Amino acid sequence: MEYAMIRSSNSKCVATILLVIVLTITNCGEAKGREFRQSNTVFIRSSCSSTTYPKLCYTSLVKHAAFIQTNPVLLTGTALNITLSSAKSTSAAMSTMARSGGLSGRDAAAMQDCMEVLADSVEELTKSIGEMSHLRTSNFEGTMSDVQTWVSAALTDDTTCTDGFQQTPSSVAEDVKTAVRGRVVEVAQLTSNALALINQLANGHP
Ligand SMILES: *[C@@H]1O[C@H](CO)[C@@H](O)[C@H](O)[C@H]1NC(C)=O
Repeated sequence: MEYAMIRSSNSKCVATILLVIVLTITNCGEAKGREFRQSNTVFIRSSCSSTTYPKLCYTSLVKHAAFIQTNPVLLTGTALNITLSSAKSTSAAMSTMARSGGLSGRDAAAMQDCMEVLADSVEELTKSIGEMSHLRTSNFEGTMSDVQTWVSAALTDDTTCTDGFQQTPSSVAEDVKTAVRGRVVEVAQLTSNALALINQLANGHP
């Protein structure tokens, strides 16, 4: 009788110990996961700190933290991909607005110019992404130099576009111009940030 009680309390004890071990392992696993997630976002934040628009840089990239981890090549590639998709959607929005926005004279001409430079920008970003996707140690410097050239050109294009709009003050379709300007400014800021990350990657490589 006594023996049975001891056995039963022993097995309870073993069960308790096992439970504690399982909980500890689970907890450590979760803590490890949190630690990884945290180091990923810390990496993004510190990489973004050297860009011109660190807040936009961080908010646009942090959604991809699990993919980027702490890899500077993935970080830069993701920044370029985000910039390209923003340039493409802005380009599409501009075509729609150009058709229906009721712009005329200088505004219509500025819109046309802007659409052309944005198309060039899309092309340069596409080339850069293509080249980045086969980045190798053997051609690292050449690739980075090409990408730096193309993304700088894309940034110049975006800036030309926003300048063109600012130089055509007119009350006509002011809201359309404001909307376009806002979107192009964002593309230009994303491009500027991507360029800063590219430069950082190019300089940081041993
Ligand atoms: C960027 O987009 C290209 C084309 O869709 C893709 O091949 C590449 O893996 C992407 N790069 C990153 C870092 O997500």
